[in-house]
Amino acid sequence: MTTVVCPGSFDPITLGHLDVVRRAATMFDDVIVGVAKNPGKSGLLDLETRAELVRAAVFGAAQTEPTMARVHVAVVPGLLVDFCREAGAVAVVKGLRGGADFDAEQPMALMNRHLSGVETIFLPGDQRYAHIASSLVKDIARHGGPVDDLVPAGVTEALRSALGQLPTGS
Ligand code: PNS
Repeated sequence: MTTVVCPGSFDPITLGHLDVVRRAATMFDDVIVGVAKNPGKSGLLDLETRAELVRAAVFGAAQTEPTMARVHVAVVPGLLVDFCREAGAVAVVKGLRGGADFDAEQPMALMNRHLSGVETIFLPGDQRYAHIASSLVKDIARHGGPVDDLVPAGVTEALRSALGQLPTGS
């Protein structure tokens, strides 16, 4: 049984995140999506809301993709390496949209290996989702723009609610 952790802020989960999780699930027996705090980013959604949105996205995908049934979702309460150790994970899996992502991820990958020996596997992001970032999604939503085709079902409503906006159509 090979367990990996796909960690991230997921504030909110995007179609790009879901694609990385999906691809990890085709390669490993057990995939845990770890929803964590990134001190370098100011959060909009609280951790439990983010985790609920990830759970809903995974559940939705599992209706048509059997491999998604082996994906679990949990909040990472502290250090990622401790979470990985407790979960018995052999590696961390992260997607990279490009060089900027690599520059941000490499120090964390090296630090995590320094702390515990856990390795990080990078998957190249699918070009269909290369333009999608949670930060951009939030910015568009803040200005009332359309984000439905960038995020899984339910995320738009959660963003509107967190931003104190009225539901579309009301
Ligand atoms: O989606 P992100 O913001 O790129 O994910 C970064 C995240 C949340 C995975 C990272 O900040 C993290 O692992 N946070 C948990 C606390 C931790 O382990 N910090 C040390 C990282 S070397």
